Amino acid sequence: MVKRVAIIGAGVSGLASIRCCLEEGLEPTCFEKSNEVGGLWEFSDHSEEGRASIYKSVFTNSSKEMMCFPDFPYPDDYPNYMHQSKVQDYIKTFAQKKNLFRYIQFETLVTSIKKCPNFLITGQWEIVSEKDEKQESTIFDAVMICSGHHVYPNLPTDSFPGLDRFQGYYLHSRDYKGPEVYQGKRVLVIGLGNSGCDIAVELSRLVTQSNIEICYLPYQVIISTRSGSWVMSRVWDDGYPWDMLYVTRFASFLRNALPSFVSDWLYVKKMNKWFKHENYGLMPLNSTLRKEPVFNDELPSRILCGTVSIKPNVKEFTETSAIFEDGTVFEAIDYVIFATGYGYAYPFLDDSIIKSRNNEVTLFKGIFPPFLEKPTLAVIGLVQSLGAAIPTADLQARWAVKVFANSCTLPTTNEMMDDIEEKMGKKLKWFGQSQTLQTDYITYMDELGSFIGAKPNIPWLFLTDPQLALEVYFGPCSPYQFRLMGPGKWDGARNAILTQWDRTLKPTRTRAVSEATRPQPFYNLLKILLFPVLLLAALLAFH
Ligand SMILES: Cc1cc2nc3c(=O)[nH]c(=O)nc-3n(C[C@H](O)[C@H](O)[C@H](O)COP(=O)(O)OP(=O)(O)OC[C@H]3O[C@@H](n4cnc5c(N)ncnc54)[C@H](O)[C@@H]3O)c2cc1C
Ligand SMILES: *[C@@H]1O[C@H](CO)[C@@H](O)[C@H](O)[C@H]1NC(C)=O
Ligand SMILES: *[C@@H]1O[C@H](CO)[C@@H](O)[C@H](O)[C@H]1NC(C)=O
Repeated sequence: MVKRVAIIGAGVSGLASIRCCLEEGLEPTCFEKSNEVGGLWEFSDHSEEGRASIYKSVFTNSSKEMMCFPDFPYPDDYPNYMHQSKVQDYIKTFAQKKNLFRYIQFETLVTSIKKCPNFLITGQWEIVSEKDEKQESTIFDAVMICSGHHVYPNLPTDSFPGLDRFQGYYLHSRDYKGPEVYQGKRVLVIGLGNSGCDIAVELSRLVTQSNIEICYLPYQVIISTRSGSWVMSRVWDDGYPWDMLYVTRFASFLRNALPSFVSDWLYVKKMNKWFKHENYGLMPLNSTLRKEPVFNDELPSRILCGTVSIKPNVKEFTETSAIFEDGTVFEAIDYVIFATGYGYAYPFLDDSIIKSRNNEVTLFKGIFPPFLEKPTLAVIGLVQSLGAAIPTADLQARWAVKVFANSCTLPTTNEMMDDIEEKMGKKLKWFGQSQTLQTDYITYMDELGSFIGAKPNIPWLFLTDPQLALEVYFGPCSPYQFRLMGPGKWDGARNAILTQWDRTLKPTRTRAVSEATRPQPFYNLLKILLFPVLLLAALLAFH
């Protein structure tokens, strides 16, 4: 019988896990090495080894209605895309309201997780933790690893010849906190991801203020990218938050049901609607891959204004400059910022448990190691999708605790491996080669939901509650949907779904002029469907 569960980390994944353990009647103990909840959302003005680190100006790239705990909407006056400090306020409030603090041991570092000698029978783990330089070892029935994956910087210094003789500074984006020290400097940013673009855009503003003395040098902020990226705006069609329109069941159905050449064509067309990526040097090499897009509303305008420009990969560095693969040179560089992302590592765990093959992460549904004799270890928050982290972690944890408690069972090792193989193939096709476990958000959430009986039953909803069904199917696939029915259901979910657009529009309609408008995807669809019918009718009438 699983009773005592160890949770490593009190970021959003850890908090979701504590809460789900409590719902399932388990006894959670959470170890957190810092003195605060929230993980990477807790800003600190210096980066610490082994801990995620963000820059001061981080804003979310998912909107508030899409990134909440499914039974805990953000206050209605919060902006849709929030500064990190607002997210952190919300996370702390959640932890307080749900009474989670008493399960957390702060300033306690987990240094080792090992199977107990009688693991085959009990499935227990021995956890060694360290507080005030004192070590303690405790036995737990199950473990949830929630230690985050924006922790260990990927600094590919070896792949850049000449970097050792470069005389300027270089650093990883995790050590970038704000623009102050870069005043009047010439900066090269390597990597076209969310952080790289945010940093380049932020620096480009400083540079223009002080470019009087140095205007003889053409560009001050350059982004170098090997493979390019799609750059999307948070402000989507008709000015609605992108994910409220993009992450819907109906759109997801279309994307999966259309033949791939049609959906690829539509995808590229959609991505190029705001501006033509080839004209801005941003075009991804493999344009149909659904590689994580970059969210940046200002980058195209910065490029148009000439304060940021995009270059190919760096071939080599000299003492003062970078030579790109196209032969052009960026001279007199003061700083190189490597926004080259992260690799994940679990230093407290034997690598073979999670990476059982070719040094690749092999986890069933991105959560359970398939080769363990007992399913008593789960990784929460590792899977990446276009959906937000909080609702994903919540559903992952709900399923994981049910597996621990034996009310859900895992398939056999072979079946799990087959599923992992199949997913790997799909992942390659849709997302290309990448280190992360990428997946389609709604498909994944529905799969987890169906394991625990919480997947919304849409046909039944259409019969019993058509108004809600329309919003669930055609509207944003917001987190509340996964606590609408089944075990763990939240009574407020229906109302939260029906009022989600009110909370979305409230913070922007600060000067009310006329009635608020909200998207009507269902009626648009009707119009699209009706059009050929009317056309046909007209043709017949004139015949
Ligand atoms: C710049 C940036 C912007 C982002 N924006 C968004 C967004 O808009 N929307 C979104 O959904 N996601 C976003 N993300 C993704 C982000 O990863 C998730 O939102 C989420 O915060 C991850 O939470 P976590 O709990 O899994 O990990 P973390 O927040 O990293 O928390 C892990 C915790 O574990 C603790 N810990 C680690 N190891 C140990 C140990 N050995 N012993 C004890 N404690 C340990 C750490 O101290 C930390 O508190 C963003 C990420 C970054 C970097
Ligand atoms: C938002 O940004 C973070 C940090 O770069 C990234 O990990 C995450 O995948 C992004 N989310 C989306 C939906 O692209
Ligand atoms: C693009 O990615 C797909 C899927 O991974 C691959 O089959 C194709 O060869 C790639 N094309 C290019 C030009 O790299």
